[in-house]
Amino acid sequence: MRLVLVGPPGAGKGTQAAFIAEHVTVPKISTGDIFRANVTQATPLGLQARAYMDRGDLVPDDVTIEMVRNRLREPDALDGFLLDGFPRTVPQAEVLDDLLRETADTGLDVVLELVVENDEVVRRLSGRRTCRECNHIWHVDFDPPQVPDVCDLDGGQLFQREDDKAETVANRLEVYAESTAPLVAYYAGRGLLVGIDATGPVDDVTQRAIDALRHFRAGEQRTAAGPFEAGTRHQAAVDARDTAHR
Ligand code: AP5
Repeated sequence: MRLVLVGPPGAGKGTQAAFIAEHVTVPKISTGDIFRANVTQATPLGLQARAYMDRGDLVPDDVTIEMVRNRLREPDALDGFLLDGFPRTVPQAEVLDDLLRETADTGLDVVLELVVENDEVVRRLSGRRTCRECNHIWHVDFDPPQVPDVCDLDGGQLFQREDDKAETVANRLEVYAESTAPLVAYYAGRGLLVGIDATGPVDDVTQRAIDALRHFRAGEQRTAAGPFEAGTRHQAAVDARDTAHR
């Protein structure tokens, strides 16, 4: 399966990506994690990306696209992947379409949108903590580790991201509305979008995501078998979104 997660900062993309990728057995590819690893190691890519990330701006498309192009050519990603944080602009989405056509003669299977209001995003980002070793994501109130600032999974030290400061979060939300939100219409128009309510307990959101993907795939198979007119695939996405919101 070739799957993209889209949603505002703090919607829970990283949290859900880990569970969903495991469920559908594909590698999780997070552009934010790749950039942060490069910043930590002070690579040329990290040095280039750091100023943009610290301000909450997007890293320029040419830099990001080259990085993703290289990652998607690695053997583990050839048969499927879950992308978290890419694409984030319509030009990035167009390049991804071209890349998949070139390398695998195929396209994306589905785009899952995590729907969360801005005030919830702010609550989530202000309490987020991330493990330095395994990147597992915690929250001081909603999903706290047993020992403050220590990862339950591997004992790694937890840190607060530079871009989770209040003023940077405000900019990230503006950047999302301006540059990334148009992707929702882009993918809805291609019949690939499934939206789910991403509020409530993490496990409930995961279950909603898995159900929505199953529902979407079932609609897709019916379309492939031929009993519906063209456009039904988009309707399946709309139905799945409506079901998830009920
Ligand atoms: P990136 O790391 O992708 O940041 P983001 O999209 O802003 O998303 P976040 O990682 O902040 O949030 P999330 O949705 O993953 O939420 P999470 O699961 O952590 O990108 C960082 C930067 O890199 C960008 O600003 C940009 O500069 C650059 N970049 C990356 N990709 C790029 C691209 N394609 N083009 C250009 N630049 C790019 O959850 C947040 C918190 O909420 C956690 O504490 C979690 O525990 C908690 N939580 C999760 N789910 C729930 C729940 N259901 N209930 C309560 N709390 C919850």
